[in-house]
Amino acid sequence: MPETIRETDRIAALRPTAVNAILAEVRELQAKGADLVSLMRGEPDLPTPPHVVEACTRALHAGRTGYPDNRGEKGLREAVAVKLQRDNGLSYNPATEILATTGATFGIHAALTALLREGGEVLLPDPVYDAYYSPIRLAGGMPRAVRAEIVNGRFQLADGALEEAWTPSVQAMILNTPWNPVGTVFTRGELERIGEFCLRRNVTLISDEIYETIVFDNHRHISPIAAVPALRDQAVYVNSLSKTYSMTGWRVGYCAGPAALIQRMFMVLAQSSRGPSTFVQDAAAVALGGPQDCVESMRLEYAARRQTVLDSLQGIPGVAVLAPEGGFFAMVDVRGLGRTSNEVRRDLLVNAGVVVAHGSAYGEAGEGTLRVSFASGGETLRKGLQRLREGLGG
Ligand SMILES: Cc1ncc(COP(=O)(O)O)c(C=O)c1O
Repeated sequence: MPETIRETDRIAALRPTAVNAILAEVRELQAKGADLVSLMRGEPDLPTPPHVVEACTRALHAGRTGYPDNRGEKGLREAVAVKLQRDNGLSYNPATEILATTGATFGIHAALTALLREGGEVLLPDPVYDAYYSPIRLAGGMPRAVRAEIVNGRFQLADGALEEAWTPSVQAMILNTPWNPVGTVFTRGELERIGEFCLRRNVTLISDEIYETIVFDNHRHISPIAAVPALRDQAVYVNSLSKTYSMTGWRVGYCAGPAALIQRMFMVLAQSSRGPSTFVQDAAAVALGGPQDCVESMRLEYAARRQTVLDSLQGIPGVAVLAPEGGFFAMVDVRGLGRTSNEVRRDLLVNAGVVVAHGSAYGEAGEGTLRVSFASGGETLRKGLQRLREGLGG
């Protein structure tokens, strides 16, 4: 490689996500003619609600095709402020405390880049959405695991794990509730303990709430920043329309936080993505501000799929499904099979023709589990679960 494009250390530290690594295996098998059903990805199969699509085409026809305001169009920032008050009890000034981003992915990247010193450490519950690791390294930081464990069929942070993981280099923590991959919805009490830890140790909280509307039974989403109002000055709220409105391909999200931090994140954004397309932002404002019955219909659909997963995987020797409280993934506890989660996953892929993710890809504490997605329903889910059941010996 020529000297001028030699990899920097930060780039050398980047890794494909588990999903992308497994996809490479899937493509290789498919090229050889394998018939595979995927229960792996976090991509909703439901269409974007028609009134949001119409708002987008209206905006296009109205010539809303120029550069957007790089902070986010005023209409979207105002819709975000109203949504945060309405759904989360959070109050942010749309002029200075809200930023529109190209998905939650960019919001997390901008927050980390704006916050971290070289070598700054970031606490991550383990297991956790593995796409957090690389942006931490890209921003010059280091991830640090906070140990979680399964207690009564539910993943939760282990007692004392936050203090155990803390070092003087810790600057931030990323918390995701509902929690991908494990399906836990943090309770008010848990959030209070995490919030008090952040305040005591001066840790900035990056709160990724992308699955907030997908909750089941009597579980309710609470924003950590609402649970611990004193956190507001050291927290960044991150969300997007990807899951809530089935808008993964639109690449639109938003962040809220104290003005000084949002200004720093804006500087990152202004040097890179410069925000989502103007007409996409108009449609996003309509999604957030318009009728929310589409969101409830999608939640009910995921609730029905979740029940199908729980019913289909019942009674397999050595296997127990952890009933998810939120999100569209179920963790299947396969510790009783006596093999590593990656061995079980690979066996399911090659011999049963079903694609799932192994829990250890999300951190050491995920070992012994498989992540099964019900973001796709219908025939994919039915066939995938049948193969999974047979593959696991059910
Ligand atoms: C926890 C979590 N955060 C962020 C994202 C990325 O969201 P977006 O599509 O808004 O970039 C995902 C997508 O799977 C996710 O699961």
